[in-house]
Amino acid sequence: MKTEVIKIDPVHPESSIIEYAATFLRSGEVVVFPTETVYGLGADAFQPAALERIFAAKGRPFSDPLIVHIAEKGSLELLTVSISEWARHLAEAFWPGPLTMILPRGPQVPRLVTAGLDTVAVRMPQHPVALALIRAAGSPVAAPSANRFMHISPTTAQHALADLNGRVPLVLDGGSSEVGVESTVLDLCAEVPRILRPGGVSLEALRSVLPDVQPPVQRNSKHRDEEEAQKAPGQLLTHYAPAIPLLLFDGSLEAMHYAMLDELRRRRTLGERVGVLIADEDAVVFQDSGAVIQTLGSANNPKQIATALFAGLRALETAGVDVILCRNFDEQGLGLAIRDRLLKAAGGRVVKLD
Ligand code: TXA
Ligand code: MG
Repeated sequence: MKTEVIKIDPVHPESSIIEYAATFLRSGEVVVFPTETVYGLGADAFQPAALERIFAAKGRPFSDPLIVHIAEKGSLELLTVSISEWARHLAEAFWPGPLTMILPRGPQVPRLVTAGLDTVAVRMPQHPVALALIRAAGSPVAAPSANRFMHISPTTAQHALADLNGRVPLVLDGGSSEVGVESTVLDLCAEVPRILRPGGVSLEALRSVLPDVQPPVQRNSKHRDEEEAQKAPGQLLTHYAPAIPLLLFDGSLEAMHYAMLDELRRRRTLGERVGVLIADEDAVVFQDSGAVIQTLGSANNPKQIATALFAGLRALETAGVDVILCRNFDEQGLGLAIRDRLLKAAGGRVVKLD
């Protein structure tokens, strides 16, 4: 299949392009489109044959449920049976935006969307292209991240193409995604609302509306991972893996620098090419170290780090290094999501310091 790529204005999307892309969705085809978090691979959420194409293009198992994207809060009624007060408040506060709510599944929602669960994940994205496309399609749009299964989520059309060229008919190129990490997945069907996947809306922000919200369950062992996989499918520790091994260093700044330099020298002695994924401020420590350096922005600015994270991982992946050494970041605000993605990229290979 030939993949057509069309540039689209991310702020004022051209209506002719939106209409063209919507014809693909209406006729049961998939379309790659930008959202404020990452690029999505969308299909009409009510057409099972179209949903199958998502799984085929990604190489994703049917056991992993999809997020349904809507363009108005009113569309919630199509997807869920009861909308709690909590859900209404959260939608008021954070939609459109990077929050996905897990709600009781409505009877019309295809089983392919929910992987047989009795819950459904719903989000109203903030990106003008995403909103216009969903409206023009005239139906909610199911969309996972537009990467091959287990790979890093795409924050540009080029990333999506690198994974899906020849596997999808159409990619809308609206430039870089601003948030850079995926939406926060919040389970509102559990007894106590809990974050299943930290993301673009922070725990602190959620608690300002719903003080009870619980942080995600710490996932640091394979055993725990398998247990939890039942409740939060798709949250395996080996998600988001880059093609190259990544070692995550976690501790005080000094300890991280020291241990990373040490490991770097050891690897270089073995003749390995080493990449380091760091903050701007760390760069002086690694200059002249012989490492391929990828900076993500200031460590004091988690928003910046989040935006640059997946592009940074992909850049090192294609730089021809044998291993990536990466520092960790504080867990405040978006830091929780950043740490989660790095832990997953490391597949659990964390060097704990102190
Ligand atoms: O920011 C995002 O959420 C992006 C953009 C495209 O909107 N989408 C995205 O989709 O990240 P995906 O498929 O890559 O991740 C969806 C996550 C998975 O971890 C999946 O297991 C979880 O949401 N999920 C979906 N439905 C669920 C459900 N009913 N219960 C629990 N988790 C669910
Ligand atoms: Mg994904």
